[in-house]
Amino acid sequence: MSSTKQKILIIGNNQTDRVALSKSLSNDYEIIQAEDGTVAVPILKKSHSSLSLIFLDLVMPEMDGFGVLTYMKTNNLLREIPVIVVTTDKDTKKIGQAFKAGAIDYITKPFDSDLVLKRTQNILSLFAKQKRLIKIVSDKFYERENNINILLNILAQAVEFRNGENGFHIMNVNIITEILLKRLVKRTNKYNLSNDDIDMIVVASALHDIGKVGVKETLLNKPSKLTKEEFEVMKGHSKIGAKIIGDIKLFKNEQIYKYALEIAKYHHERYDGSGYPEGIKGEDIPISAQVVGMADCYDVLINDRVYKRTYTHEEAIRMILSGECGTFNPILLKCLKEAQHEIVEELNISSKVSRDQHKIQAIASSLFKGESDSYGLSNETELSLDSERIKMLYTSKIFEEIIFDYTKATSVLNLNDSAKELLKVDGVIYEPVNNKEFVEVFGRNNIDRFLNLLSYTSFKNPSFNMQFKILINDKITKYKLVCSVMWDKFNHEEKIGFVGRAYKVR
Ligand SMILES: [Fe+2]
Ligand SMILES: [Fe+2]
Repeated sequence: MSSTKQKILIIGNNQTDRVALSKSLSNDYEIIQAEDGTVAVPILKKSHSSLSLIFLDLVMPEMDGFGVLTYMKTNNLLREIPVIVVTTDKDTKKIGQAFKAGAIDYITKPFDSDLVLKRTQNILSLFAKQKRLIKIVSDKFYERENNINILLNILAQAVEFRNGENGFHIMNVNIITEILLKRLVKRTNKYNLSNDDIDMIVVASALHDIGKVGVKETLLNKPSKLTKEEFEVMKGHSKIGAKIIGDIKLFKNEQIYKYALEIAKYHHERYDGSGYPEGIKGEDIPISAQVVGMADCYDVLINDRVYKRTYTHEEAIRMILSGECGTFNPILLKCLKEAQHEIVEELNISSKVSRDQHKIQAIASSLFKGESDSYGLSNETELSLDSERIKMLYTSKIFEEIIFDYTKATSVLNLNDSAKELLKVDGVIYEPVNNKEFVEVFGRNNIDRFLNLLSYTSFKNPSFNMQFKILINDKITKYKLVCSVMWDKFNHEEKIGFVGRAYKVR
């Protein structure tokens, strides 16, 4: 039945070419034709999701092949639909340009019918695999267990870096939120929270203070008490956070998006209406924000901040129960009282770093599980695929952060956009140690130190830190790097790659 056939769009102004291609393919595929880029764009706009492949002539009178590729790139269609460019064999320079612009393959005129069909089949199956891989990674991202770490890591880094908070605040809030929610659903079904809801609130809690990226650093790190005016500015972080999340639809899942938004906005509201930004009270405050608000309050108390001393766990619990940090929901206070030992225990369990590593490990293992044939498929390694969006949104640009990952099987080092700009190197570096350009920028000495530290890692001790200096815009800049090695699931002696971040040391 024709409707089950995959659809191929042939774009080119030469009718003979279109007919020839069409003839080779029409037995197996449904063919649509467009005689120019200007005709193709509306088709892409309307029906891109139904297209499996595009044959694109580079030379066309009004909008040429490069115009179409640019349109597709801007609209993120190149990840969705593979493009084979059609050209004459003399056009080697153009072919190179087309690859750069996002084409995946090329065929030359005149067409060999069998070759056209074979190429089409190959590209489609390769692309299907890649898409499947992207889907696996995307799905993983929304599965809390496997993704929370990426999210937490990135956000913790971003917020921690500016807030003068210790790096574990977000993770602690996350742990306490989960404990409180689990107690809460045991006590009452008033809030109608399913396990999925709990998972989503826990993930979304990581974003509670994201609005602080909009507050001046000097204010965030002010060692003395804030003036009234300054406190007003600081309070703005709830609204800014809500706006950031509102502007960027971070999650595909509407529910988690809703939770993230309400948590960012209302985590400083208090049950008696004394909080901010809106002074709403009681059950008008979403339960997600109530719980995260309590978790946040507890963790702030037990850790030091530039403006306050550290309180003991007992002091913190007493202060919250007695209302010194504002009024909380009576049921939640009961949950906190009940769960206090569990909280202490959980926050102390193993080192937080190793918990972190464990999760990175879990993600890495699950990604590589049974996917050994997928190694060479993509320029973007599996780990970076879906987290890339978040990395870009929150951290790298603002903090001039370098995020990297390396896959041993492909010998490819990936760098984030910010690193590309800062270091003025390619984002995808094959065999970095032997890449002249990269070695020059990063420095042989730094690379040797890195490799040395890498050699001391093990499955049990997979991470290391390193400080280094590099020349950025003619200025010697100090960076601190954190790197985690990923290990083969079945062979703990075997490194499969590493992921890491480097951020500026001021
Ligand atoms: Fe906050
Ligand atoms: Fe916080």
